[in-house]
Amino acid sequence: MKKIIKSVNSCESLKELEAIRVSLFGKKGYFAAEFAKMKSLSDEERKDFAQNLNRDKEDFLTLLNNKKLELEAEAIAYEMKKDGVDVTLFNKDSNAGAIHPVMDTMDKIIEYFVAMNFSIEEGPLVEDDFHNFEALNLPKYHPARDMQDTFYFEDGMLLRTHTSPVQIRTMLKQKPPIRMICPGAVFRRDYDLTHTPMFHQVEGLVVEEAGKVSFANLKFILEDFLKYMFGDVQVRFRPSFFPFTEPSTEVDISCIFCKGEGCRVCSHTGWLEVLGSGYVDPNVFKAVGYENVSGYAFGLGVERFAMLLHKIPDLRSLFEGDLRLLEQFR
Ligand code: PHE
Repeated sequence: MKKIIKSVNSCESLKELEAIRVSLFGKKGYFAAEFAKMKSLSDEERKDFAQNLNRDKEDFLTLLNNKKLELEAEAIAYEMKKDGVDVTLFNKDSNAGAIHPVMDTMDKIIEYFVAMNFSIEEGPLVEDDFHNFEALNLPKYHPARDMQDTFYFEDGMLLRTHTSPVQIRTMLKQKPPIRMICPGAVFRRDYDLTHTPMFHQVEGLVVEEAGKVSFANLKFILEDFLKYMFGDVQVRFRPSFFPFTEPSTEVDISCIFCKGEGCRVCSHTGWLEVLGSGYVDPNVFKAVGYENVSGYAFGLGVERFAMLLHKIPDLRSLFEGDLRLLEQFR
């Protein structure tokens, strides 16, 4: 008996263990032989004998079972070690991803305005006429609607042509003061070197009690922002027109390629147009039911910023999904 117990304990494989099990419990095994002996015993003797034998049988079953569990666990641990992947190993063939230059630029823009205490607002891509045009002082048949070639659905809904409708939505659900940016995708029927039918904008809006914001605030924040994005550039404000702002200005920076000398990128003007902005038109406040407030708004195209920052000649290349382009931004 002791010998068997010892051999079970020192057993090293499931196969060995199985052999021991057969030698004990098999048809020709130890217990079969022992039980056979009972026939020749008297009734008295047989009772004790059977009791002892059954106890031994139980003990061995437990012993074998425990050993089996132990060996199985060892086998699994061995397999895991053999086939397992060491995630800490460096794989020189693996391809690391990269953040898309447009999203990277967007992040940088958002970072600035969040630091300046602007909230981030979002809205639907499929808009209605009221939020995209009407409330922004663009009534039906207003010629300025032509500035934004629109994708329409048959039911009159449309793909938003700018993120300005998010400003309307935010003003409708919040009370002033408001200090927000709305980053996101917008859509226009345009396709050439510098335009794609889908692109991204970040627009901003600040609304305060009347008299609390001035054009100087707008000028400061946009100048500071453009220097944060482009480094040491000159910034100029040029009178312009947008239906939703009055007065309106477009904002230029001195050309970052020729430093204002004049080159192909700036069409030899020395300036690059980068932003639209202005004082919010009273009609916009009227449309959302705001009274006695004043505010300013601005808007920019993220792709234009990305093109300038990374010297990308053809905007369309950003959306072709060509890995060779994306790999340059790792
Ligand atoms: N919504 C304008 C556009 O998409 C950008 C803009 C926003 C201009 C705010 C002025 C003020 O063209």
